[in-house]
Amino acid sequence: MEKHLLALAEDVRWQQLSLRILQEVCLSHLILSCSVAIAVVVLTAWYIRDSLRIDDIDKKYVLVTGCDSGFGNLVARQLDRQGFHVIAACLTEPGSSKLSAEASPRLKTVLLNVTDSASIEKAVEFVRLQTGERGLWGLINNAGRSIPIGPTEWMQLEDFKKVLDVNLIGLIDVTLKFLPLIKKAQGRVVNVASILGRLSLTGGGYCLSKWGVEAFSDSLRRDMRHFGVKVSIIEPGFFKTQVTDLGLIEADLQRLWDRLPVEVRRSYGEEYLMEYMKAQAFSMGILCSKDISKVTACMRHALSSRYPRTRYGAGWDAKLLWIPLSYMPSFVADFIIRVLLPAPKGS
Ligand SMILES: *[C@@H]1O[C@H](CO)[C@@H](O)[C@H](O)[C@H]1NC(C)=O
Repeated sequence: MEKHLLALAEDVRWQQLSLRILQEVCLSHLILSCSVAIAVVVLTAWYIRDSLRIDDIDKKYVLVTGCDSGFGNLVARQLDRQGFHVIAACLTEPGSSKLSAEASPRLKTVLLNVTDSASIEKAVEFVRLQTGERGLWGLINNAGRSIPIGPTEWMQLEDFKKVLDVNLIGLIDVTLKFLPLIKKAQGRVVNVASILGRLSLTGGGYCLSKWGVEAFSDSLRRDMRHFGVKVSIIEPGFFKTQVTDLGLIEADLQRLWDRLPVEVRRSYGEEYLMEYMKAQAFSMGILCSKDISKVTACMRHALSSRYPRTRYGAGWDAKLLWIPLSYMPSFVADFIIRVLLPAPKGS
C-alpha cells in the first residue's frame, strides 16, 4: 500500500515537472513570436514612412552648390528631370555653360564662389528674384575640395585654411545667408559631409572640415526644427570624383614633399613618398566606387521625401566599414591605418 502511494507521488511530481517545462517552452515561444512580430511591424512602418514623398515638386526651388562636376553636377540634372526648379551654382563659367546645355530650360545656373561673401550675396539676390514669395525649398551644400591632403607634418597653416575655407567656412556662410529664404519655404538643408567627418584618417584640412560640417549640421538641425526647417547630413564613402582624383592629389603631395626641409624628408626616408602614393592608390583602387548616383540618391531622398533622414551613409564602404568603425574604440581605426599606410623608414 505504502509502495503504491510512493509511486503515485513520484508520478505526480513528474507530471508537474513536465507541465512546468511545457509552460516555459510556450512562454519563450510567445516572447520570441511577439518580438519578431513587433520588429516586423516597426520595420514596415519605418519603411512606409521613409518612402512617403512630398507633393508639388514642380513648385519647389532647389539650390545646389558645386555643380561643375561630381555629385553636384549629377544631382542638379537629376532634380531637374524630376521636375524641381533647380538653381545650379557653379564655380566656373565653362562648368556653368556645359550644365546649362545638358539640362532643361527650367534649370538656371549662377556663378558662386563660396569663399567670397560678395559672391554669395549676389547668388542670394538671384535666388530671391527667382523664388519670389515661395522661398527656397532646398539647399544642397555640396561644394568641396580635398587638396592639400596628406601627412599632417607636411602641411603649413595655409594648406589647412585652403580646405577649411571652402568646405566649412564657405558652407556656413552660404547656409546663413540663404537661411531666411529656406525658413520662408519651411525647407531643407542638405549638407555633404563624409565618412572622414567621423574618422580622421588623413592629415590636412579635409577631415577637420567634415567634422565641422557634422557639428554645424547637428546644431542647425536642433535649432531650426522649431521653424519646420529640416537638416540632413550625407556621409559618402570613397567615390570617383575630383575630391578623390589621384592625379591631382599626387601632384600636390609632390609639391608638399619638395617643400620639406631636408632633415624632415630624411626622417621619412627617400622612398617614402613613392610608397605612400602606392599604398594610397592601392586602397583607393579597392574602395573608390564609380557609381556616384548612390550619393545623389541620398540627396534626392533628403529633398523629396516627407520625412528626410538625419544621416545618410552612401556606398558599401561607408555602411559596412567606416561608419561601424567610427563607433569602435580608436585603437581599431589606428590599427587599420597602420596596416594601410607605410611607416617612415628614415633615421
Ligand atoms: C574665390 O574667392 C576667393 C576669395 O575672394 C579668391 O581668392 C579665389 O581666387 C576665388 N576663386 C575663383 C575660382 O574665382
